Amino acid sequence: MAVLITGIGELTTNDDELGTLTGAAIVFDGPAIAWVGPAAAAPDADERIDVEGRAALPGWVDSHTHLVFAGDRTAEFEARMAGQPYSAGGIAVTVDATRAATDAELTANLRRHVSEAVRQGTTCLETKTGYGLTVADEVRAARIAAAVADEVTFLGAHLVPPGADAASYVDLVCGEMLDAVAGSVRWADVFCETGAFDEAQSERVLRAAARRGLGLRVHGNQLGPGPGVRLAVRMGAASVDHCSHLSDSDVEALASSDTVATLLPACDLSTRQPLAPARRLLDAGATVALATNANPGSSYTTSMGFCVATAVLQMGLSVAEAVRAATLGGARALRRTDVGVLRPGARADLHVLDAPSRTHLAYRPGVPLTWRVWRRGSRVA
Ligand code: NIG
Repeated sequence: MAVLITGIGELTTNDDELGTLTGAAIVFDGPAIAWVGPAAAAPDADERIDVEGRAALPGWVDSHTHLVFAGDRTAEFEARMAGQPYSAGGIAVTVDATRAATDAELTANLRRHVSEAVRQGTTCLETKTGYGLTVADEVRAARIAAAVADEVTFLGAHLVPPGADAASYVDLVCGEMLDAVAGSVRWADVFCETGAFDEAQSERVLRAAARRGLGLRVHGNQLGPGPGVRLAVRMGAASVDHCSHLSDSDVEALASSDTVATLLPACDLSTRQPLAPARRLLDAGATVALATNANPGSSYTTSMGFCVATAVLQMGLSVAEAVRAATLGGARALRRTDVGVLRPGARADLHVLDAPSRTHLAYRPGVPLTWRVWRRGSRVA
């Protein structure tokens, strides 16, 4: 069935030829976009919806979340706000709660958070394992994630579980764990940071994942300067995420690579880290994505709108740049061409704001501006 959405006051397409249109319309044919252009030239359709001058854009592409978890870390957050530094060790608290939860509890929690994200305009979401850290628990997390999320990443190398020996744990991740999980995930990730995995260990994990045909991602340069960005670029990772502490050579390496710098401003604020140097990265020519990093420890939000507003208000991006990073940037970080863009053939994922322009996302921070959301051509909010 063809659906015509017309009366779009401002349409951000992210398509180089179409650009940003005023007085626009879009036609969905089932799960895909059939036509985009000026409302006056729109073809007939089975159903017609007039959005009365509101702004529309591609659904958010949230390319970094950790939503297969149980438990709560409010106390850790309160301690942090009182001056306690964030450290990777808090992950172990969520690992204990996640291992103790049933499949049904983990699935319900994941679905609850994903539907919270969808109600705010997210139409493509990646999520990770990484709170299991045994073969059985990581396989279980991957299976639960795959039933709900668009993209699933294996993050067995999130933390050496308390009490385990680091070398033996890396052997386990690179062997039995990857063998067991590889069929259920598209990506593998490693937390390359002091307190998690060093450069050599991280490289081993990435090489083992690449041998099994998985795409690569890296958590890097989150809590201090380090080798994560360099390693990600050297290994041809699709994305290196966090990037809060970058040297000039890290920025240059990203700018001359296909590795996307995925920035997580809600996490930077919640962990009292410097906001990632988005302006420097864009000026140097790097591809930037914005994502929520939704997880119970370092960034407990599913709001891409908050990330966009922060990128504009505090990181020096224009609204157009921030919106692009939260849509097309996320798609590039996931190496996808079907989302993050509105053009014929792309997925019919549309976010209509209760506002006349995308500028309101930063002009009216904190206001729930999502009016309607379509995903694969079906109305989901
Ligand atoms: O991306 N950096 C590692 N992992 C998560 C934090 C997870 C947690 O604290 O539970 C992150 O911030």
